[in-house]
Amino acid sequence: MIFTKSLIAMAVAVLQLASLSSAGIANRANSGAAEVTYSHDGRTCCTDGERGAIFSEGKCEYNSQALTPSIPDDTFVTKCCWNNTANDFHVHFANDHELRQVSPINITGNATVPIEVCNLGLKWNITEYILTDDYLDINVNLTIACGPFNLADREWIRIHFDSSYRDSGEFAYEISAVGPTIYATITSKIHRSDFSVDFHGELTGTGILSQLDQSFDKNLRADEVAAILAEADIC
Ligand SMILES: *[C@@H]1O[C@H](CO)[C@@H](O)[C@H](O)[C@H]1NC(C)=O
Ligand SMILES: *[C@@H]1O[C@H](CO)[C@@H](O)[C@H](O)[C@H]1NC(C)=O
Ligand SMILES: *[C@@H]1O[C@H](CO)[C@@H](O)[C@H](O)[C@H]1NC(C)=O
Ligand SMILES: *[C@@H]1O[C@H](CO)[C@@H](O)[C@H](O)[C@H]1NC(C)=O
Ligand SMILES: *[C@@H]1O[C@H](CO)[C@@H](O)[C@H](O)[C@H]1NC(C)=O
Repeated sequence: MIFTKSLIAMAVAVLQLASLSSAGIANRANSGAAEVTYSHDGRTCCTDGERGAIFSEGKCEYNSQALTPSIPDDTFVTKCCWNNTANDFHVHFANDHELRQVSPINITGNATVPIEVCNLGLKWNITEYILTDDYLDINVNLTIACGPFNLADREWIRIHFDSSYRDSGEFAYEISAVGPTIYATITSKIHRSDFSVDFHGELTGTGILSQLDQSFDKNLRADEVAAILAEADIC
């Protein structure tokens, strides 16, 4: 009986410790001048000189340090960083569903990209964009021409403010109601030097085209898009 009681007491003590550290009190209180920095800037990456910290289940974590950020209602954490000089966290956050602009745009272009099975003809027509704190959505009508196929699909494509490839979306081309579908799965990354965008596409198919596996690359620089990206915080 006594044994069980002390086990329970131990468990309670462990739980209290755990909740203390989950509240971020355990280590940070010892570091004197430490003070959390909050930036309402929606950044999704750390500024140079700061270390990326984990944000998981409502807590910022860096090595043995932990913090439950205190941010206003209707906002969310976009990135936790660790500042070695301040010896504390830097928390970036944004408003829920923060939309800055939904605007028309008029960008058209075309290119031919040789791939194994054909000279892939690409034509695009970008008519609208939505700008948020960490990505730019563009509404694109992409036509692909390959051998006998000349197919168009309009989709929203997401350009994350990142200089490494991120998922952007997918175009789907139904050859006929009952025929195979060709998918163009798009990833993209931004060049910090000239704010052009590298698009990488993977072409795959279903049914009789299930063997299709081709990729293409296209760098696109449009002044309107570059001007938008020049204002963004790019990771
Ligand atoms: C880190 O914190 C120090 C002291 O608060 C500050 O001066 C410095 O700008 C911070 N570094 C970055 C990269 O934000
Ligand atoms: C888009 O720009 C082209 C010229 O580049 C122009 O001919 C066309 O009328 C414009 N369309 C719209 C909807 O503004
Ligand atoms: C393809 O783009 C070029 C400019 O790069 C333009 O002169 C030409 O008219 C375009 N062709 C088509 C079919 O849109
Ligand atoms: C692009 O799409 C818009 C809207 O569908 C259309 O008005 C415009 O004429 C198209 N431009 C080209 C060059 O196809
Ligand atoms: C996409 O562009 C093609 C021509 O390139 C056109 O036939 C089609 O109607 C366009 N689709 C949409 C949804 O704008």
